[in-house]
Amino acid sequence: MIRRFIIPILCLAAFPVCAVVNKDSGYIDSLMSIMSVDEKIGQLNLPVGSDIQTGLTEGSDFEKLISTGSLGGFFNVSGVEKIKKLQKFAVENGPHGIPLLVGADVIHGYRTIFPIPLALSCSWNPDAVRRMARISAIEATADGINWNFSPMVDICRDPRWGRIAEGSGEDPYLGCMFAKAYVEGYQGDNLGSDSTLMACVKHFALYGAAEGGRDYNTVDMSKERMFNYYLPPYEAAVDAGCESLMTSFNLINGQHSTAAGWLTQGMLRDRWNFKGLVVTDYNSMPEIASMGTSSMEDAAVKSIVAEIDMDMVSGMYVKYLKQSLAAGKISMDMIDRACRRVLEAKRKLGLFDDPYKYCDNKRAETELFTEPHRNEARDIAAQTFVLLKNDNNLLPLKKKGRIAVIGPLADVENNMSGCWAWAGKHVTVLDAFRRAAGDKADILYARGSNIYHNEVTQRNATGIKPVPYDKDEARLLSEAISVAESSDVIVAVMGEAAEMSGESASRVDITIPDAQRELLKKLADTGKPIVLILFTGRPLVLDWEAENIMAILNVWFPGSEAGDAIADVVFGEKCPEGKLTATFPRNVGQIPLYYNHLIPSHPDPDNAIFNRYCSNYIDCTNEPLYPFGYGLSYTKFEYGKPELSSTTLEKDGFVTLSVDVRNTGEYDGVEIVQMYLRDPVAQIARPVKELKDFRRVLIPKGETRRVEFTINADKLKYYNADLKYDYDPGEFQVMVGPDSENLQTLTFTAK
Ligand code: NOJ
Repeated sequence: MIRRFIIPILCLAAFPVCAVVNKDSGYIDSLMSIMSVDEKIGQLNLPVGSDIQTGLTEGSDFEKLISTGSLGGFFNVSGVEKIKKLQKFAVENGPHGIPLLVGADVIHGYRTIFPIPLALSCSWNPDAVRRMARISAIEATADGINWNFSPMVDICRDPRWGRIAEGSGEDPYLGCMFAKAYVEGYQGDNLGSDSTLMACVKHFALYGAAEGGRDYNTVDMSKERMFNYYLPPYEAAVDAGCESLMTSFNLINGQHSTAAGWLTQGMLRDRWNFKGLVVTDYNSMPEIASMGTSSMEDAAVKSIVAEIDMDMVSGMYVKYLKQSLAAGKISMDMIDRACRRVLEAKRKLGLFDDPYKYCDNKRAETELFTEPHRNEARDIAAQTFVLLKNDNNLLPLKKKGRIAVIGPLADVENNMSGCWAWAGKHVTVLDAFRRAAGDKADILYARGSNIYHNEVTQRNATGIKPVPYDKDEARLLSEAISVAESSDVIVAVMGEAAEMSGESASRVDITIPDAQRELLKKLADTGKPIVLILFTGRPLVLDWEAENIMAILNVWFPGSEAGDAIADVVFGEKCPEGKLTATFPRNVGQIPLYYNHLIPSHPDPDNAIFNRYCSNYIDCTNEPLYPFGYGLSYTKFEYGKPELSSTTLEKDGFVTLSVDVRNTGEYDGVEIVQMYLRDPVAQIARPVKELKDFRRVLIPKGETRRVEFTINADKLKYYNADLKYDYDPGEFQVMVGPDSENLQTLTFTAK
């Protein structure tokens, strides 16, 4: 018999927009007291909608699932009308009228698309990320969504992994700051409001350490590395109040993350005191079995025992939990515990007070892709660009003469937002340049090349956002050369196509794809000055470009306002200020290459290309091409001599590091001043440096700003071999400067 819970429809109509959560946890108690075992298990099931396919499983027949009480929500269905219908169906036809969670991957914007997360991290501006997340929440909730599968906080030291694009780079300190900012932006300070949604930190855990940078690959890691570098951002998201968490696809030391009790119970629930909802990643549960760590039935058993509350897509809980209960393999308490967490999430979102609170057509019509949101996206995008090279101050360009815009990414609208972006509206680089130049300069254009020479490789690389393949490569090239020859300066718009990073987009060769690199070499042969506008979702190997191209502006994937944001910076309306949060190697063979490394046996004193019996390579230096923290500006900053308030740090005290930074160039500019620490002698080896603080300072030209950092014992702590979080008294080095290699060092003693 289908029992209906008392959510009178009339009462709902009286509260069309509800920002207050009235129902308390007692409400969930009484609801659960009248739910059958099947209905409780049903709440743990999360099928995918058919709009967006990210895995191998087809969408499900929602109405049947809803009326039989066999789902707790769904995800990746878009459009407020469709969602409202499903929500109404659940309220009117589902057992007890329980409303549904509606999930989606709103990773860097909903309709207004912001730069990819890796780019956002290069702003070193958590406030910008908070604003981006706030706008994403406003737009997504206006269109029916109440649960967001973001932030992705996986630390990554391997740019072959395509999903490096979705995170905040290689550093745990920045990773924590951004994790917090995303959560605060999405959830606000009132999850019950109709314009905030539930965040979901992912992928727990260590997904960014996939062996060989190959997506979905295995992870093996020491506990010291885990605790000191990879786990902190997940914990920071939990501390910031993130209400849900997604497990990862990978094995960790031979156990699947979705069935590893030490991780989801021991770490997450017990150590970090996480009370929220845990969901698997897409179809992960059967993979616990197929990856060789249990039988099919036991995969569901292992998951519920490990306190995994919801099963994304596989339907394994619905299929196996009841029989496992009957067989005594699991207890009713385990099912109740998981069901309660799903219902609690719905309660906190206010769905029991008003199931339609996220289904307001008027909001959907007026709050998406608005002018203010787009302005914000344009502004933030410019903060994420990293100027890698600028010989002879080629940039900014003057709006004069003949500017040749060349490259297969210059005039492709749907390629500019990168992975996880479903919005279609963009201004291309070419259009934006034409508009910005007006009648002051001639903007010439030629496409010049394909993405790759090989049509099949290009199709693999461009996926669902095709960049058309042109069979006549010779014509493309000759058009480009003649345009280039008739110009004063070339702006080459090249790099990765959108689908070359993100999920299922690992690469072994992380250079600019062959056809474009060859085009760039031919353009260089013309002898004209070249600005390379580089689209990419990962650090690339740019050895040839760094030698031969005068200016390189790395713009990542900047989002809806890409074209205008790029024009703003190229023509000097704005000064570049981004700095790298992931190291750019010289050669793919150096990977993993990251700034906060340990000292090897036989370190190479000169980091030369080969010193026998030193830790190095015969054919390449250990140095990165562009280090962590690096990025140029149109202006110049000079650092004074840093000073410490004391050379002794008392146990409960602090010391202050101060440094004067002077803008000696011709533009007002933002400098990101970075502070690193090193513990030269500790219980376990500590990195050569670790970022511990930074400041973004706007310094008008000709002016000086004094920048101060406070150092206390907390900044010195790490997890030792017993996983005790503490510091070792003794000498420490503190370093300050514009990037991780260009630093001045002082020492102090910690008591
Ligand atoms: C698989 C991805 O790994 C995850 O990040 C995403 O949230 C889910 N698919 C749902 O789309």
